[in-house]
Amino acid sequence: MKLKNQVAIITGSSSGIGKSVAQCMAAEGAKVIINYPFEKTAPDAQAVLDSITQAGGEGSMFQCDVSQEDQVIAMFEHTKKLYGTVDILVNNAGIQVDSAFETMSLKQWNAVIDVNLTGQFLCAREAIKEFLSRGVVSDTSCAAGKIICMSSVHQVIPWAGHANYASSKGGIDMLMQTIAQEFAGRKVRVNSICPGAIQTPINKDAWSTKEALDELLTLIPYKRIGQPEDIGKAAVWLASDDSDYVNGASLFVDGGMTLFPGFRTNG
Ligand code: BGC
Repeated sequence: MKLKNQVAIITGSSSGIGKSVAQCMAAEGAKVIINYPFEKTAPDAQAVLDSITQAGGEGSMFQCDVSQEDQVIAMFEHTKKLYGTVDILVNNAGIQVDSAFETMSLKQWNAVIDVNLTGQFLCAREAIKEFLSRGVVSDTSCAAGKIICMSSVHQVIPWAGHANYASSKGGIDMLMQTIAQEFAGRKVRVNSICPGAIQTPINKDAWSTKEALDELLTLIPYKRIGQPEDIGKAAVWLASDDSDYVNGASLFVDGGMTLFPGFRTNG
């Protein structure tokens, strides 16, 4: 029970990586807020909550579009009313709206930056305010609070056809490092997880046929696609006191995707 008595908000946890992070954190004793963006994703969030309560965990659902300031503030207010505080923020909500660069519309650009980057700013700001006003509660955690930013291997790997997404992830890296530097002295830890290809709905095209999966595996030295639990377990570690001396770090969980696999037999 590495996260016992801690309260975690996990944005975008009605599916994919966020869902697994919520389940893994709840299994370690955290009370989790399962955030989902729109009414139509409420049944998915409910299914995540049901899986958590059936396993003996505790949680609650909250609808909020993380790109909307008033909704983010409302989510933190709701959480504090319900559970008293927030100890952990997992800035996970993210979207892809892919397009060749020359035809990418401003709408496509803004949609991704708004959710992936501005959403992380808005949630981190509310979390930091709460961490600073509460400070360290020694029987809960060594830290006043922990933020985990869900980035991507694409914070370092350029990605043609995904300029908006790769730019948002590059931005997350500097946002994460800057707030880690700004608040380390007040016992706040901020780190990123950089997933590689994880089998979720966001990249279905890359794994749903044998041909696509075979091609994807040429990019992954460890020769398997990642599973959401690979990230869920990493998130538990980064949120727990086991990683208390880790601050401002990017943890790549990618089966070696960032090892430039093309250079194994070339160059
Ligand atoms: C993207 C996936 C992609 C993976 C590896 C992730 O950040 O969301 O669509 O498969 O990076 O390229």
